Amino acid sequence: MKLADFSTIHLSSVEEEIVSFLNDYTSDEQLKESMLYSVRAGGKRIRPLLLLSTVAAFGESINTTTYQVAAALEMIHTYSLIHDDLPAMDNDDLRRGKPTNHKVYGEALAILAGDGLLTGAFQLISMAHLANSPKLLLLQQLAINAGTQGMVAGQAADIEGETKQLTLEELMFIHERKTGRLMHYALLAGGVLANQPEEVLASLQKLASHLGLAFQIRDDLLDVVSTTEVLGKTAGKDAKMEKTTYPGLLGIEETKSALENEIDAANRMIDQLEQTVCSFDGQLLRQLVQQFSV
Ligand code: IPE
Ligand code: IPE
Ligand code: MG
Ligand code: MG
Ligand code: MG
Repeated sequence: MKLADFSTIHLSSVEEEIVSFLNDYTSDEQLKESMLYSVRAGGKRIRPLLLLSTVAAFGESINTTTYQVAAALEMIHTYSLIHDDLPAMDNDDLRRGKPTNHKVYGEALAILAGDGLLTGAFQLISMAHLANSPKLLLLQQLAINAGTQGMVAGQAADIEGETKQLTLEELMFIHERKTGRLMHYALLAGGVLANQPEEVLASLQKLASHLGLAFQIRDDLLDVVSTTEVLGKTAGKDAKMEKTTYPGLLGIEETKSALENEIDAANRMIDQLEQTVCSFDGQLLRQLVQQFSV
């Protein structure tokens, strides 16, 4: 199936899960509006697509539970963007082609919108029709990958690294966490929902490592070579904030080859999964990986 058709079929259901959850379980109207604003602003929905494509790769059907877990992941990602844009962090005015959440609703409500999306993600998975054992694993892994060993750890190191010249090793540490760990979760959750054994989950994690790093290398690169209009967020922001980035450290050409290396490694992992897991069909994941190229 073409990835574009797969996205058309499934992504509106993921958004619908988020919207109906927020509508049903938020008592404060302004808070609800502020969360819905950022969710409805769009975004590429890469993480839900990775999760759903992983489930599909194992020949498993996609159902309401799959949508709920994918929705929870996108809620965590959207919260991370709202907080990332705050004046105390990256201080951005534009996100997903619209004014940032705090520009519209003020800083206090933007912080709370992030808090609400974060906690709501766990509530949504807790409500899914799943056996206790996979549900607990999905909740625990979401906490680990989003939290203080995962995305939050990466964001903390990113902020602490501002105005310092980091080594490539230190930068990789940040990228693997601030961006990589939610990608890890996407593939892991897909594998768990498709009832895959430990060794297959481990291979999915290796694939996710390359995807996560590739995605943030690309994000760093686009900040330099793309435009605000195309990105829907302010281009040239990393240099302004004195962040260490791939292009800052390696230059444009070497950054492009680092990106291609990660993409090649990801494709090799997909090949390996196809060779070792007889039910696995990597066609959708391959098309997704293709989108990580510049
Ligand atoms: C932006 O993520 C932040 C990073 C982790 C690089 P995306 O590029 O996936 O943002 P949206 O969801 O499409 O807006
Ligand atoms: C963000 O990294 C990672 C998150 C966890 C949100 P960036 O700060 O580079 O993301 P953008 O460029 O603002 O989207
Ligand atoms: Mg940031
Ligand atoms: Mg930012
Ligand atoms: Mg960036």
